[in-house]
Order: sequence, then structure tokens, then C-alpha cells
Amino acid sequence: MKNISSISEMRQTSLAWKREGKRIGFVPTMGFLHGGHLALIRKAREIADVVAVSIFVNPTQFGPGEDYERYPRDLERDTRLCEEAGVDAIFCPRVEDMYPEGWSVHVDEARLSAGLCGRSRPGHFSGVLTVVAKLFNIVLPDTAVFGEKDAQQARLVRQLVVDLNLPVRIRVLATVREPDGLAMSSRNARLSPGDRKRAAVLYGALCRAQAAVRGGERRSSAIRENMRTFILSAMAPVDIEYIEIVDAETLVPVDVIENATLIAMAAMIGGARLIDNVTVAPGGAR
Ligand code: PAJ
Repeated sequence: MKNISSISEMRQTSLAWKREGKRIGFVPTMGFLHGGHLALIRKAREIADVVAVSIFVNPTQFGPGEDYERYPRDLERDTRLCEEAGVDAIFCPRVEDMYPEGWSVHVDEARLSAGLCGRSRPGHFSGVLTVVAKLFNIVLPDTAVFGEKDAQQARLVRQLVVDLNLPVRIRVLATVREPDGLAMSSRNARLSPGDRKRAAVLYGALCRAQAAVRGGERRSSAIRENMRTFILSAMAPVDIEYIEIVDAETLVPVDVIENATLIAMAAMIGGARLIDNVTVAPGGAR
């Protein structure tokens, strides 16, 4: 496995792969890898001839006062996991190379990024889309694999490649969960044992919502209230940032569930901001 930090070396490596007719699969990450990342890597191996994984804690997607400094990092372990997973190259650029003195162009999205996490994290998705566009231009992937765990991000990346005509196919994979249902996340490492146990209630609330839709409930307000009550009764104190029920395509809030619908939430538990979601469709959960 190649371990690359230089932008030009990464691009040369990808160009050489392309000359050999190899299809490049790409998994962008911020490291501290877990089973969710590894599932994306497995999929990339399945659908491409060579796989590149980027490991870069991207400062421009963290707001002031967020956890950029405290974000968990362990490059040695990540390197080993990638090697074991059959990755061909990891790309770990330096912040000062990705954002040299004087950089001033970024990617902004005007519609899909307004709600959900975008509301409470202004600038976050601009940072994400900017770094993803840069990484695509460096790694030159045929296909890039993302996780549904970050549903708004995945939707935005799909829009990015459409609107900027980027020649990359996007695949989005189902959320990988711990045995108790908690969505795997690098940030779970920061939960105390007690908070870790309680955190499973978030997915519990999403499952209840899914069951309610299966049972015929269509009113968003009733589902949201039910979820809120369930979480607060099981786990006080918890700071629920949002519970939103939105059209899976437009991300616009819906009052009545009719089409494919995303039920998404964000909550602070013991200082860690956790997000999770499920998609439901009338007549049954997807
Ligand atoms: P990161 O949080 O490291 O996630 C990298 C990829 O793994 C994302 O596509 C994310 O959706 C996916 N992922 C995370 N947890 C998952 C889980 N439990 N199951 C399935 N997939 C999961 O998302 C980012 O990094 C950054 O914003 C990035 C896209 C790399 C840009 O900096």
C-alpha cells in the first residue's frame, strides 16, 4: 500500500493507474476508521480495480468552537486497517498543502444545505463540498463511496457532481451500526461508558418512527413529538439539536409523509454531537 501525503504524487499515482486502464474507487474520510468506513472500502474494492482512501481532518468544515482540535486521530491504526482492507493508496495531505496561504475559492450550495445540520453548522457544507471537490480533482476517481449515515452530505455530494459536471459516479451505502443499533461514528469514541449505553436510544427513536409509518401514521408532527418524548424519557439530560422529517430528495420539511422521506436527528450527548437518520417510504420503511 502506498502512503502518500503529496498532492502531486497522489495525482501522478492516479494518472498512472488510469494509463493502465484501472478503474479507481475512492473513499474520502477524516480517519479514526471504524466498521462504517471499512464497509465503504469493501464496496470500493468490489466495484473498482484500485482503491484510494483519503484521511484528512478537514479544518474548513468545522465551525469556531467545534471539535476540530479534539477530533479523534490515530494515523498509525488507520494505516494498518487500510492495509488489512486491501487499500492500494492512502492519501493524507497536510493542511497547509490543501489550504495554502491565499486560497480563496470555495464551493457553496444554496438550497440543500440550508436545513438540518446546515442550519446549526453554518459554513460546514461549504467546507465539505470544497474539500470533496478538491479531493476528486486530486484522486481522479471513477467512483466515490459515501455513507447514508451523513445523509445530507451524501445528497449534497450527488448535487455537486451534477451541478459541476464532475466525472465521478457516487455510491451511497447503508449505515453500519453497533449491535445495539448506535450508528458507528468516530465521535462515539468520546462517549463515557454511561453515555455510550444511553446513546442507543437515538436509533431506538428512529425505529419507533419507522414502525409508526409502517402502522399508517403519516403526520410528521406526531412522529416528531413521539420521538422527542421517547428520547427525553429514556435519557435526560440530552440536548436534541433537531428532529426533522424531510423529503429525501429535496430535503424540504414535509407535514405529511407521502414519498421517500428522511427522518433525521442530531443530538449532543456528553459533549459529542451525534447524528443519525432513517429513510421511510409510505407503505413501509425502506
Ligand atoms: P467521516 O465522518 O470520516 O466519514 C467518511 C465516510 O464514511 C462518509 O461518507 C460517511 O458518511 C461514512 N460513514 C461514517 N459513519 C458511517 C457508518 N456508521 N456507516 C456507513 N458509513 C459511514 O464524512 C466525512 O468524514 C467528511 O465530511 C468527508 C466526506 C471526508 C469530507 O471531509
